[in-house]
Amino acid sequence: MPFNRLAAVPVLLLWLVSVLAARFPLLGAASPQPSSKCQRKCGSVDIPYPFGIVHSPDDDEGDDDGHCAMNGFGLTCNETGTNGGRHRPFAAGNVEVVGVSLQQGQARMLNDISDYCYNTTTREMVRDEWSLDFAGTPYMFSDTTNKFTVIGCQTLAYINGDDGDYGDGGDKYMSGCVAMCRGDDVRTTLSNGSCSGIGCCQTAIPKGLQYYYVEFDSGFNTTEIHNVSRCSYAVLMDSSNFTFSTTYATSPAFINNNGGQAPFVMDWAIGNETCDVARKKPVSYACVSNNSECFNSLNGPGYICNCSKGFHGNPYLQDPEHGCKDIDECKLPHLYRCTNGGVCRNRLGGYDCPCKFRLKGHAKGGTCIDHFPLAAKVAVCTIGGILLMVIISFLVILHKEKKKTEEFFKKNGGPTLEKAIVIKLFKKDELKPILKKSNFIGKGCFGEVYKGILDNKLVAVKKPINGSVLESDQFANEVIIQSQVIHKNIVRLIGCCLEVDAPMLVYEFISQGSLHDILHNSNNKVALNLDARLSIAAHSADGLAYMHSKTNTRILHGDVKTANILLDDNFIPKISDFGISRLIACDKEHTASIIGDRNYMDPVYLQEGLLTEKSDVYSFGVVILELISRERAMHSDNNKLVKNFLEAHKKQKKATQFFDKEIAITNDLEILENLASIAVECLSLDVDQRPTMMEVAERLLILSRSCKL
Ligand SMILES: *[C@@H]1O[C@H](CO)[C@@H](O)[C@H](O)[C@H]1NC(C)=O
Ligand SMILES: *[C@@H]1O[C@H](CO)[C@@H](O)[C@H](O)[C@H]1NC(C)=O
Ligand SMILES: *[C@@H]1O[C@H](CO)[C@@H](O)[C@H](O)[C@H]1NC(C)=O
Ligand SMILES: *[C@@H]1O[C@H](CO)[C@@H](O)[C@H](O)[C@H]1NC(C)=O
Ligand SMILES: *[C@@H]1O[C@H](CO)[C@@H](O)[C@H](O)[C@H]1NC(C)=O
Ligand SMILES: *[C@@H]1O[C@H](CO)[C@@H](O)[C@H](O)[C@H]1NC(C)=O
Ligand SMILES: *[C@@H]1O[C@H](CO)[C@@H](O)[C@H](O)[C@H]1NC(C)=O
Ligand SMILES: *[C@@H]1O[C@H](CO)[C@@H](O)[C@H](O)[C@H]1NC(C)=O
Ligand SMILES: *[C@@H]1O[C@H](CO)[C@@H](O)[C@H](O)[C@H]1NC(C)=O
Repeated sequence: MPFNRLAAVPVLLLWLVSVLAARFPLLGAASPQPSSKCQRKCGSVDIPYPFGIVHSPDDDEGDDDGHCAMNGFGLTCNETGTNGGRHRPFAAGNVEVVGVSLQQGQARMLNDISDYCYNTTTREMVRDEWSLDFAGTPYMFSDTTNKFTVIGCQTLAYINGDDGDYGDGGDKYMSGCVAMCRGDDVRTTLSNGSCSGIGCCQTAIPKGLQYYYVEFDSGFNTTEIHNVSRCSYAVLMDSSNFTFSTTYATSPAFINNNGGQAPFVMDWAIGNETCDVARKKPVSYACVSNNSECFNSLNGPGYICNCSKGFHGNPYLQDPEHGCKDIDECKLPHLYRCTNGGVCRNRLGGYDCPCKFRLKGHAKGGTCIDHFPLAAKVAVCTIGGILLMVIISFLVILHKEKKKTEEFFKKNGGPTLEKAIVIKLFKKDELKPILKKSNFIGKGCFGEVYKGILDNKLVAVKKPINGSVLESDQFANEVIIQSQVIHKNIVRLIGCCLEVDAPMLVYEFISQGSLHDILHNSNNKVALNLDARLSIAAHSADGLAYMHSKTNTRILHGDVKTANILLDDNFIPKISDFGISRLIACDKEHTASIIGDRNYMDPVYLQEGLLTEKSDVYSFGVVILELISRERAMHSDNNKLVKNFLEAHKKQKKATQFFDKEIAITNDLEILENLASIAVECLSLDVDQRPTMMEVAERLLILSRSCKL
């Protein structure tokens, strides 16, 4: 039996047998939840459930008022050192616990180092060999982190162990490790860092080990080398952080460093069943928290619980406050990656990290990239910017244009006309299509004239060349007056357009053009018999008489001439260009006070500057003269036509030589003489001698009728 060489083991075993035998039947029973009053810290070590503090190793009840540890997980919390030293937790009675991890299912503990030394006084080898026994407890030596470690220069140490089942015929496990230092000088053969047999040896342990003891082989002693390396050491310890130092082999540094103890790791597990079996026993199943999972122990029978992915807390507690709770990953950006253009959104059991708007990829993987390459973005932005500027400037122009339009409308008396609603007010855009070269039909003193169709009617649009110089309501009033002049022998004003600087006027279209052109167009002389000429004279006079007769708004034409007498398809005359034509300066020759055609101008008006109805009568006399002579009235020619005619008529009482050969037929001479005498009266320099337009019209009508007979 190896036990006879162990100092501590028999005592420990006796204690274990008594304690564990009493405890184990409880393992399969219900696992009630711990009291909230349980102490959860001992010294600086946290003690989470299923661990708990108990008063003595054989007591699982903990505090008086309840159960604090799961069966087998009780720790004592003893005061160490004299007079208020530190409190430390102990497992299995005397094994100090330095940390517990629920997630890994591990506990970190401290372990005595065994040694085998040469006593220079007694000249004998002295052994101090330890054992550790967790048989019957939930703990198993972790096979992944622990290694049996032997230090010395002439040493062979054995590790003996078992899975905890006693009485089955001795230990199932035994292994050993040899550490040697060869060479002339021991010190030079050793090197820091490596534990590969020279001064240091490590060996792995099997799974499921719950008990071990150390044994030094007496065949390897340090008698010969005690001046350099007096002691050998052996311990099962956590090797993950161990680095060999040469001083460990040549001095007591190794055993002195940590008070003769070395850390080791225990895997622990709940019960001795697998998850599948345990789950079927809800009374004892330990993974009670919502969102917890069960994992089979990798190191032996039993299982541990863990919070599901995305949750943290204690999976062994039902209480939702301390059980597994959702992790708010977004609050832990150093652990849960969501950068590079990701937007973190926590959800139960995880988090989402979609790429920000307009980015594509995986933010968690750091591959969020822009849809658009920089060049495209720059292009889009530039084009967008330009477009915006264009739109803005367009709107500004549009606004200005609209404002201008409104200003013109106001200036040209739009508001007044709108109130009167007598004629149609055309929009600028309605007239625009008409004002093109192909529609141009002439240029008068008023401006350019275009022919077009509006509201299915042929119209003539008059567009002034120069801007209007009128006050706003002056123009409007004139338009109102003209629009009220409705007579078959007066050109009808249909509407106007005020949305431009100089208002445009829309008249009915008169097909044959002016009497002036018909009389004097040498290229294409139209035959006009006396009857037609009388009719033209009579109807024109009728139109003028109507204008002069209007009671409330007597209208003077001011510019009566053959060019202003238009003829329709049936050679019915229509007077045009009155009123407004006087308001809008025709050519620069005209002063503000004297407007009209010099060729037809009443000399009295020229002298006195006062325009009267009789001025129109004078001008009409010239028109009659032109009709009978078919000759142009020319002011530049010293008014030869009028002067000669009047002189001839004065001397001979007749003016036959002036008559147009076309109509000077013997039978008609009397009528022509009558016509001539009307003209003479009209052309009288004594204003009072001139007949009224009404009289002229009546006499012409009579003449016209007599002619037809
Ligand atoms: C598991 O533990 C219970 C209670 O201690 C015991 O009765 C049972 O035999 C054990 N089973 C195994 C397979 O070790
Ligand atoms: C801790 O204290 C308990 C009783 O208070 C005693 O039984 C146990 O041996 C002590 N353990 C240590 C390591 O001092
Ligand atoms: C328990 O969960 C934690 C965190 O998710 C993980 O690190 C650990 O490895 C898990 N333990 C087991 C035994 O699966
Ligand atoms: C050697 O043995 C003697 C007698 O037992 C003892 O007094 C002494 O302390 C020992 N020396 C060492 C270094 O252990
Ligand atoms: C040390 O070992 C040698 C043989 O290697 C042996 O002769 C000697 O007696 C041993 N010394 C002690 C103190 O055991
Ligand atoms: C190893 O390291 C220790 C200090 O850690 C030093 O005292 C010793 O001399 C080193 N040994 C060698 C061989 O470098
Ligand atoms: C050990 O050292 C002492 C003196 O320091 C010396 O007398 C003795 O012979 C040495 N022993 C061995 C084995 O080297
Ligand atoms: C490992 O050693 C370093 C420093 O040497 C220490 O900070 C760390 O806590 C140790 N790790 C473990 C698991 O003991
Ligand atoms: C556990 O989750 C279920 C549904 O998933 C719920 O009904 C129950 O209340 C939860 N229990 C606790 C303690 O939160």
